[in-house]
Amino acid sequence: MGSLAKQLSLIVGQAFEDAGLPVELGDVRVSDRPDLAQFQCNGAMAASKIARKNPREIANDITQSLAENPVFAKLEIAGPGFINITMTDEYIQNYIASTMQEERMGVAQYAQSNQTVIVDYVGANIAKAMHAGHIRPTIIGDCVKRIVRFAGFNALGDVHIGDWGLPMGQIISEFELRHPEWPYFDDDFSGDYPKDAPFDYADLEKIYPEASGACKEDEARLILAQTATAKLQEGHKGYTALWKHFLKLSKDHIKANTDAMNVEFEIWKGESDVNYLIPEIAENLKDKSVLLESDGAYIIDVTDKADKKELPPLIFYKSNGAVTYGTTDLATIYDRLKTYDNIARMIYVVDKRQNLHFQQVFRASEKSGYTKDGLDLVHIGFGTLNGQDGKPFKTRSGELPRFDQLIQDANEKARARIDEANLAADLSEEDKQDIAKKVAMAALKFSDLSNQPHMDYIFDLDRMSSFEGKTGPYILYQAVRIQSLLAKAQDITKQTTALSINNDDRPLALLLTQLPDVFDLTYRSLSPHYLCDHAYNLAQEFSRFYAKCHILSEEDDAIRNSRLMLCQHTYKQLDLCLSLLGIDIPEKM
Ligand code: ARG
Repeated sequence: MGSLAKQLSLIVGQAFEDAGLPVELGDVRVSDRPDLAQFQCNGAMAASKIARKNPREIANDITQSLAENPVFAKLEIAGPGFINITMTDEYIQNYIASTMQEERMGVAQYAQSNQTVIVDYVGANIAKAMHAGHIRPTIIGDCVKRIVRFAGFNALGDVHIGDWGLPMGQIISEFELRHPEWPYFDDDFSGDYPKDAPFDYADLEKIYPEASGACKEDEARLILAQTATAKLQEGHKGYTALWKHFLKLSKDHIKANTDAMNVEFEIWKGESDVNYLIPEIAENLKDKSVLLESDGAYIIDVTDKADKKELPPLIFYKSNGAVTYGTTDLATIYDRLKTYDNIARMIYVVDKRQNLHFQQVFRASEKSGYTKDGLDLVHIGFGTLNGQDGKPFKTRSGELPRFDQLIQDANEKARARIDEANLAADLSEEDKQDIAKKVAMAALKFSDLSNQPHMDYIFDLDRMSSFEGKTGPYILYQAVRIQSLLAKAQDITKQTTALSINNDDRPLALLLTQLPDVFDLTYRSLSPHYLCDHAYNLAQEFSRFYAKCHILSEEDDAIRNSRLMLCQHTYKQLDLCLSLLGIDIPEKM
């Protein structure tokens, strides 16, 4: 059905067309000056260049031709030729009544048939504890997946674990130096390797930096690691068995951390999962003369004549035969194209510092012919999580804070805020904990998502956890308030009647008509901040409406029911916006 502004654009566009002008000039949007009008159309200025007429004159012609239409309460011309538009309450009521009844509340479907979209996010690496740097891809990736899913696509999240590069060989060789007696290192071993790892995740997390440090200091040590990496990639039995332990422990670690954020993955693959495809891809690309030898290595030239800056080649095989991060990403595209025949898009939510890498990979997929008509490869490069000093967020001892620690801090902060505000006072300890978790998630997610992904953003737990200002907790608080009001209303009225809006509730009603455009902007830009703004505006406008209007205490049945209906619609929209952001509303607070 489209937003109310879109519907008006059709009407006003028609008037432009009838005047012999391009229909798009009739584009209507929400007014910049809500004190003067609800909507505005600025097309007369552009029309004046085409028609060589004064823009005010054109605006006048257009408003005169619209004047007959009973949907307009007021049409005025302002400044050089802006058309200010105010609708009748009846028109707004009808629009709300018809769209809010719908499941999608007027939001369009964007997918044709059952198209698949893969969202690749988090990409945590084996044996390295998730840290502050994983907060943004977890939050943004999950939100993008929800947006794409609501747009109608079969959206699948892929965790794409970093499980195949040099770090694997570094850890394997470190274990081999420390425990040469383990069966994984005995080439003659023919029994079954131990089912459980002879170490736990904490050991793994400790050994990795030690191994990588040793490799930095000592060339011979590095060669050991490189050799082990190459042997693993060639399928060495013992190394593979050992590596499977790393993988299992690391997956458990990643799952526990992302579960705590209520973030899921449909695909639990990693870089290693495409290893078996690499020889076949190499053959294919040699045949196509896309894969070229260069100083013992194999590369793909990804340059294009039109490039302003020369892109370095994608290194497919290093001279020692090992594959690179670029190789596994290219092979993953190949794999996804084979696995999902209805694939429309792959969206990578990865640090913006990896932009060059994705340019190379995307270009290599084109040059290799690993693409299809209309396939869209997108890198959403997010900015850095900074501390309040504007520098990358670090602990006092100068390290990146751990992911689980950040979640715990956010939970504790939320709990303190709840107690401070004397919320949930009469609820059980268990309920309080549960509410604190939801408030913490709302704080973390909303503050991240209300920034555009590519911008760096300042992580300030104090500010984001506040129940005041543009925060997740503030919006949750308003949502819970509506919910409890509606719960009370159930005893009073079951049957809601038609809307009848007036001066006090009109701003809230008008805000509700914007959802389809808000979603459209969000989906097209894949930037969730539009949804955040809308949720915040709804919460604020509701709060004003609540302060001004009698709702439950309203004596006029028709008005009370109309207001309750407005509350219901507001809740439904807030719930949708928050659920797209990955935020759950507690039942009570
Ligand atoms: N493991 C990578 C890293 O830590 C991120 C993976 C992102 N996804 C991808 N398909 N490259 O930098």
